[in-house]
Amino acid sequence: MYRLVYVSRATEHLGDADIENILNVSQSNNDERYITGFLAHNGRAFMQALEGQRDEVLDIYSRIENDDRHFGVTQIIGEPIETRAFPDWSMNYHRVDDDEGSSTMVVRKDDSVDTLLNPSMPRDLLYMFSKFIRMR
Ligand SMILES: Cc1cc2nc3c(=O)[nH]c(=O)nc-3n(C[C@H](O)[C@H](O)[C@H](O)COP(=O)(O)O)c2cc1C
Repeated sequence: MYRLVYVSRATEHLGDADIENILNVSQSNNDERYITGFLAHNGRAFMQALEGQRDEVLDIYSRIENDDRHFGVTQIIGEPIETRAFPDWSMNYHRVDDDEGSSTMVVRKDDSVDTLLNPSMPRDLLYMFSKFIRMR
C-alpha cells in the first residue's frame, strides 16, 4: 500500500456547499477503491492524506491535482506503508475556522476530535496534521 499527503490552497470563495460536494464525491469514489484518508481545511489551505493501492492513490491524486477548486497542489509525502493511519474513513474532514482565537472544529461523521489524535498513528503524520490544523 501507499500513502500520499499533499497541501494546496483553496480558491477564494470556496463555500460550504463546495466542500460538501467534494466530500460526497470523495467518499463514494474512495469507498469503491478502498482509499482511506483525511482532509483538513484551515479556512485557506487543505492538507489531505490518501492511502490505498499505489495505482489507485496516484490515479485519484492526478484528478485532484487538476481540480480548479484549489491550486498550488504540492505533494509532501509519498511512501509505501504496511498499515493505514485512517482505516475507518473513506474521507473524513476536519475544519478549523480561524475567527478570533476560538477554533470551531467541524468533524464529519460525528467522530470525536480525539480520534484524529489516535496514538497509534505514525507520529510524523500526527504532528503534521495537528500543526496544520492549528496554523493561522
Ligand atoms: C481538496 C480536494 C480534495 C479532494 N479529494 C478527493 C478524494 O479524496 N477523492 C476523490 O475521488 N476526489 C477528490 N476530490 C475531487 C476530485 O478532484 C474530482 O473532482 C473527483 O474525483 C471527480 O473526478 P472526475 O470528474 O474525473 O470523475 C478532491 C478535490 C479537492 C479540491
